[in-house]
Amino acid sequence: MRRTGSAPSRRMPSVRAALILLLLAGAARAEEGLPSLTGESGDPDRGRAIVLSRQRGLCLLCHAGPFPEERFQGDLGPSLAGVGARLSEGQLRLRLVDGRRLNPETIMPSYYRTEGLVRVGPAWQGRPILAAGEIEDVVAFLLTLRD
Ligand code: HEC
Repeated sequence: MRRTGSAPSRRMPSVRAALILLLLAGAARAEEGLPSLTGESGDPDRGRAIVLSRQRGLCLLCHAGPFPEERFQGDLGPSLAGVGARLSEGQLRLRLVDGRRLNPETIMPSYYRTEGLVRVGPAWQGRPILAAGEIEDVVAFLLTLRD
C-alpha cells in the first residue's frame, strides 16, 4: 500500500507560508497609505490654520497637540504631538481622507470622501469636507510635528 498520508502534511507549511505572505502584503498595502491628491506638496502654514480652525478642520474638538495658544483641546483622539514622526506622509493622508478604511468604527470624520455619507447637510452633499489642496496642506503641517 502506498503511503498517501505524508503528502498533505508536506503541503501544509507552504499553505501556511502563502497565508502569512498574503497577510503581510495586506498590512503593507494598508501601511503604505495614499499618494498625493494633487501631485504637489502642501503648505504647512495653511495646514496649521486649517487644523486650528474651529470652522474648517475642527481637529481640536478631538485632538490635543503642541498648540500652546489654544485653550480648549480635545482628548477623544490621540495627541497630534509627534505624529509626523510616528506616521509617514501617505499614512497621514489616508487617515485624513478616509480613516474608516483602517477603522470602520472611527468617530473621526472622513475629510475627503464623498460617497456613502449619511446625514450631511445639503451644502455638503457630494462634497468633501476639505478640498484636495487643503488635505495636502494639513498633511504638510502634520509632518512638521516631530517631537
Ligand atoms: C470627532 C473627533 C475627531 C476629529 C474632529 C478629528 N479626529 Fe483625528 N482621530 C480621531 C480619533 C478617535 C482617532 C484615533 C483613530 C481611530 O479612531 O481609528 C484619530 C486619529 C487621527 C490621526 C492618527 C493619529 C495617530 O497617532 O495614530 C491623525 C493624524 C488625525 N486623527 C488627524 C486629525 C486631523 C488633522 C483632524 C482635523 C482635520 C482630525 N484628526 C479631526 C478623532 C477625530
